Amino acid sequence: MATFKVNRVQSSPIEGQKPGTSGLRKKVKVFTQPHYLQNFVQSTFNALTAEKIKGSTLVVSGDGRYYSKDAIQIIIKMAAANGVRRIWVGQNGLLSTPAVSAVVRERVAADGSKSNGAFILTASHNPGGPNEDFGIKYNMENGGPAPEGVTDKIFENTKTIKEYFIAEGLPDVDISKIGVSKFSGSDGQQFDVDVFDAASDYVKLMKSIFDFQSIKKLIACPQFSFCYDALHGVAGAYASRIFVEELGAKESSLLNCVPKQEDFGGGHPDPNLTYAKELVARMGLGKTPDSNPPEFGAAADGDADRNMVLGKRFFVTPSDSVAIIAANAVQSIPYFSSGLKGVARSMPTSAALDVVAKSLNLKFFEVPTGWKFFGNLMDAGLCSVCGEESFGTGSDHIREKDGIWAVLAWMSILAHKNKDNLSTGKLVTVEDIVKQHWATFGRHYYTRYDYENVDAGAAKDLMAHLVKLQSSLSEVNKMIKGVRSDVANVASADEFEYKDPVDGSVSKNQGIRYLFEDGSRLVFRLSGTGSEGATIRLYIEQYEKDSSKTGRDSQDALAPLVEVALKLSKMQEFTGRDAPTVIT
Ligand code: G6P
Ligand code: ZN
Repeated sequence: MATFKVNRVQSSPIEGQKPGTSGLRKKVKVFTQPHYLQNFVQSTFNALTAEKIKGSTLVVSGDGRYYSKDAIQIIIKMAAANGVRRIWVGQNGLLSTPAVSAVVRERVAADGSKSNGAFILTASHNPGGPNEDFGIKYNMENGGPAPEGVTDKIFENTKTIKEYFIAEGLPDVDISKIGVSKFSGSDGQQFDVDVFDAASDYVKLMKSIFDFQSIKKLIACPQFSFCYDALHGVAGAYASRIFVEELGAKESSLLNCVPKQEDFGGGHPDPNLTYAKELVARMGLGKTPDSNPPEFGAAADGDADRNMVLGKRFFVTPSDSVAIIAANAVQSIPYFSSGLKGVARSMPTSAALDVVAKSLNLKFFEVPTGWKFFGNLMDAGLCSVCGEESFGTGSDHIREKDGIWAVLAWMSILAHKNKDNLSTGKLVTVEDIVKQHWATFGRHYYTRYDYENVDAGAAKDLMAHLVKLQSSLSEVNKMIKGVRSDVANVASADEFEYKDPVDGSVSKNQGIRYLFEDGSRLVFRLSGTGSEGATIRLYIEQYEKDSSKTGRDSQDALAPLVEVALKLSKMQEFTGRDAPTVIT
């Protein structure tokens, strides 16, 4: 058994280590600077406090992007030196973000111990590779992202750090082989690294939530066809285990599901209509549509927490997706059979979920952007299903959004709606389900314009301009009438602020809102997940209750509001851009 000793390494603060919406994300070149990762990891240990870290069990894994393998070895050595008792690593350092959350909550070691938290190594939907992004975030004992109180402390620590601890004499651990490696410190401290199968805990959890038998029947129906695109991310490993091995889907249903770490095949692993081109074409959409698309398609991002859901030649907006899942969960998904505790969405997500909550008389919450805000509600038993416009959907089975869960939820709804149709072959489609939903609840036309990598100063100025405008709504309404007389007046405008109903914490400046008299909304936010420049997000929404008018093309329906938004914000003037980088 190798013995190690604790090395104290002198260090000093490195600027810019403030965690964003989802941890610290930077270019690989930034992360590989001397002491950069080490400073952040030590600052995290210090924020959690030495007493809590001593003797703890921590998970370390991620989506396998470039630099992950080196980072895992560094974190293992630092964990040993900080008194951690054991580290759990998914085989090859791979675990999807939802699987990490599941492992933290569910996995029990042979001696009965559970995990106290996790380092997740991912930059989610951002590209990977030596010239692209790396990221690290810490998740707590409940399996959810560290709350702001903790990330603020981490950041403060990065500004004063003087030293970090790292084990000397501890060899690199072979993370490709399942099994436990045991080490001891020079003071007799025991330290284990346990490499385990990355999928089994997660698969077990999914089987306890969904009715796999009924999904299996749907997949076996010759009229049903399906395509899943992992965009070369970590979802591929789970997709083949669940969709093919467990549910009997054909191997050919899987697209880009052999994880191409460390750069996702050079692609941008973000499941939306722009970046998931191959799937979009396969589903009969986009510029070069296939002629015979499958009935159901879905994609995931690099770390498999995001999802995009498509029907044959049909896109389901994430805002509609969560509303439809909430409306159908109790009938279709065994985990929810005794009812939903409540539902929640992020502020920029459309109000489709609100309408469902009202009609089903469910508790409802509107939180700032960022999955961590749902965690408190779930821990307090206030929320079962939640979602975000940014292709995130999930439930209280874990404390992260969950891409594969969302696909299984949709398959469950399809299986339920078609349980009597499987022999006749006349199936209710994804499009039928969405249109039926609009007919019942009305439709929220919705689109998001992203202006990526804008000059950070210009983006700030644009936001300041929009805040200033809010002080005189009569001016704003005059401007609107000058642009489009067919757009309603703004009834109120503010910057979104959230008071957490569980712990009372207040989050300010969470997005600039213009709320119109007819229920339409314009929201402006700066992205918290980019690694370069600034990304401005403009969210545009309009509610249509009249079921004879819910079938329009959404870009057409929203054109007047878009025009108003661009004029009000002086988008082109501030950013120099005459078009967004991505429209979803
Ligand atoms: C991550 C978080 C999501 C959040 C999204 C927002 O994916 O996990 O909860 O909605 O970032 O990203 P943005 O770039 O808009 O800050
Ligand atoms: Zn992600």
